[in-house]
Amino acid sequence: MSNIFDQRKTVRKYTSKPVPHEVLIRVLEDAQKSPSWANSQPWEVYVATGETLERLRTANLQAYDEKIPADDANMPWPAVWPEYIQERMNAAYAKVFEQSGIARDDQQAREENWRNNFYFFNAPVAAFICQDRNLTEWSTLDAGIYAGNLMLAAAQHGLGSTPAASSVSYPHILREILGIPDHQRIMVGVMLGYEDQEHPYNRPVSSRVPIGENIHFSE
Ligand SMILES: Cc1cc2nc3c(=O)[nH]c(=O)nc-3n(C[C@H](O)[C@H](O)[C@H](O)COP(=O)(O)O)c2cc1C
Repeated sequence: MSNIFDQRKTVRKYTSKPVPHEVLIRVLEDAQKSPSWANSQPWEVYVATGETLERLRTANLQAYDEKIPADDANMPWPAVWPEYIQERMNAAYAKVFEQSGIARDDQQAREENWRNNFYFFNAPVAAFICQDRNLTEWSTLDAGIYAGNLMLAAAQHGLGSTPAASSVSYPHILREILGIPDHQRIMVGVMLGYEDQEHPYNRPVSSRVPIGENIHFSE
């Protein structure tokens, strides 16, 4: 049996093939089995498909093209990352560009690659994970576990997935079109669909630091 952890990767371009409703439901039913503090299940997930997703895509892309600054008030981005973390991220970005066939100085290709985020990588399904604002980091952790399991469930059912911070850059658009109430924080979007296996954006293969680097054994 193939290992689901090896199958999952971040897909950055999807085919237009729709996800059958039954498959989507199976993925969501599996992700729903995620553990959480006292089984509180503190996630509210807004799933956009079809015409609603097209409206969302259009509005989001328009905001991006009009250079409306991203609003990270729901999930603040760190002002400064610890240096060793920043180094890992820099290496990852460089690798994604290189393996996607984008030259370092090709500003136009880099821009198109980033813009791709704002039409949700062409995905036929976008799930936005939200949570009541009154909860604490424990529930944020639960929502993260849910997001991880959602991606693994997708792989289990033959779908690609994309966790995307960029997809929640314009929370006001998501609130308006998906009816997300103000008392819920919009945390992250996870795109789902069938990977476009021909597209160079899907060539990158990520690596990990060896477990000796960040797993701390004591015997
Ligand atoms: C919370 C979170 C937010 C992310 N946001 C983005 C994003 O906005 N755009 C993107 O292309 N990838 C995004 N990623 C994907 C990561 O870049 C990717 O997981 C990492 O490089 C490892 O690659 P892999 O998922 O293919 O193993 C995000 C991942 C996570 C977990």
